[in-house]
Amino acid sequence: MGTGTEKILVIGANGQLGTELTEALRRTNGSHNVVASDLQLPTHAAGEEGPFEVLNVLDSGKLGELLSRYKITQIYHLAALLSATGEKKPKLAWDLNVNGLLNVLDAAREGGVRKVFWPSTIAVFGPNTPRQHTPQHTIMDPTTIYGISKLAGERWCEYYFTKYGVDVRGLRYPGLISYKQPPGGGTTDYAVDIYQQAVETGSYQCYLSENTYLPMMYMPDAVQAALQLMEADAGKITIRSSYNIGAISFSPEEVASEIKKHLPEFRIGYQPDFRQQIADSWPQSIDDSVARRDWGWQPQYDLPSMTKDILTNLKRKKNPALV
Ligand code: SER
Repeated sequence: MGTGTEKILVIGANGQLGTELTEALRRTNGSHNVVASDLQLPTHAAGEEGPFEVLNVLDSGKLGELLSRYKITQIYHLAALLSATGEKKPKLAWDLNVNGLLNVLDAAREGGVRKVFWPSTIAVFGPNTPRQHTPQHTIMDPTTIYGISKLAGERWCEYYFTKYGVDVRGLRYPGLISYKQPPGGGTTDYAVDIYQQAVETGSYQCYLSENTYLPMMYMPDAVQAALQLMEADAGKITIRSSYNIGAISFSPEEVASEIKKHLPEFRIGYQPDFRQQIADSWPQSIDDSVARRDWGWQPQYDLPSMTKDILTNLKRKKNPALV
C-alpha cells in the first residue's frame, strides 16, 4: 500500500499505460504526490488531476531538476517507441528506449530515488524462442529494434541492481488492451482497435492473419501487476531484468467470435501487413510461474470477461443514455 510519503514521477504519462497507471497511483498515493510527465501536455481530463511537467527523458538536466524539485522517491519510466513505430525509426527507438532508461537509472543511482518501475515486453523474445509457455529464462533473439532495445534495457536494469544496488523492477508485458487511451504503435494494437471498430462501424479489417495467437492482457490487470510488483518486499524479487507475466492468449478469429456474442452483426476481414512477421516471431503464451511464486501475480480477466467489460464501456461512451 502507498505510505503517503512516496513522491512518484511517471514518465510517459500520456500513453496507453501511463494514463491509467497515473490514475491508479493518484488514487492510492494522493494526486499531489504523483507528478505526471510527457513530451506534451495531456489532452484528456485525468491529466489535470495533479501536477504535470513537460519532459523529454533524453534531457537528463530537466529530469534531474524535476527529481530534486519534487523530491521524487519512485519513478515509473514508461516512455518508449513500440514495435511497429520502432521499425520506422530504428535509431530513434534505440536512443529513446536505451538512453532514456540509462538517464533514469543514473538519476536513481545518484539521487534520492528508492525504486524504479520499467516495462519490458514479449518482444524481447524471437524466432528461436520456444513459443508455447515461453519460460522466464530461454533463448532471446529479438528481430525488432523495439525488442533489441528492451532486451538491452533488461540487461542494464540487472546490471544497475547488481553493481549499484538500484532497486529497479520490470515486467515483460504482453499486448495491453484498453479502451480509454489509444495504444502507441505496437503489433498487438489490433486487439484494441477491433473493439473500437466493432462498436463504431460494426466491422474490422485486421492486419494479422486469423490464427495469429499472441499473449495479451486487459489494462486493469496490467496496472495491478505494476502496483503489486512495486509493493513487494525487495527480498522477494529474484528477477531484476524483467518478469514474464501472462494473462490471456487469443487469435483475431477468437476475439472476433467473442465480440459476435455481444454484437452478432460484427464482421472481420484479414489483410496481413509487415506486422505479421513481427507477430510470428513472438511467443503465443507465457510461463509466468516465477512472478506468481515471487510476488503473487494472478490476472483477473479472461477473454469473455474482458470483452464484456470493454463493450459495455464503449457502448456507454458512444451513448451515455445507455447505463
Ligand atoms: N504491445 C507491444 C507491441 O506490440 C508488445 O509489447 O509492440
